[in-house]
Amino acid sequence: MNTDDLFGLAPVVPVVVLHDADHAVPLARALVEGGLPAIEVTLRTPAAVESIERIAAEVPDAVVGAGTVVTAEDAERSRKAGARFLVSPGCTPRLRAAMAETGLPFLPGVSSASEAMALLEEGITAMKFFPAEPAGGVPYLKALGGPLPQIRFCPTGGIRPGNAADYLALPNVGCVGGTWLTPSDALGAGDWDRVRVLAAEAAKLRPA
Ligand code: 3PG
Repeated sequence: MNTDDLFGLAPVVPVVVLHDADHAVPLARALVEGGLPAIEVTLRTPAAVESIERIAAEVPDAVVGAGTVVTAEDAERSRKAGARFLVSPGCTPRLRAAMAETGLPFLPGVSSASEAMALLEEGITAMKFFPAEPAGGVPYLKALGGPLPQIRFCPTGGIRPGNAADYLALPNVGCVGGTWLTPSDALGAGDWDRVRVLAAEAAKLRPA
């Protein structure tokens, strides 16, 4: 799998914060059934690595990745857990090298032309645009597409049902990401039907 394949899986990548690894498998099943197979589990909780392991082992139709990858060690432990892609909120030369070393497709985070150009110099043309809304949103990303049309972005940070389609209409957007599909109250209540409905609505934003 490469980043084009990742962008082709679905218009939306759910960004998931899991506090209980027991939620990982039913949550992933609900997202896949709703039509969103690419799932980013953020390394923000102690349950994250085990959650990635369980989804990788028990939900074969899911393509589980690791998000909030901020250190070289994060990249390697994610790969070992079974992550099939990596996402970082920003990037440093050391982190870029570590993510590349895993052999997995990865989306390093950027929020400026200079950051994007530094990665372009390394041959990277797929990136996360973060934090999308605070950094300038759709007009900003559209403007980056003028001088840097070869880069495709996954914007995340402030994406919601009301603005996701505007991002997806940009030629330099491969997919969008966000946490709105997995509200913490739904996870806490084990309300997988609600997650399935939210995923199905998001999957319709653009044909995968
Ligand atoms: C991310 O980690 O990509 C963002 O924090 C997700 O932002 P959101 O909660 O606004 O969707």
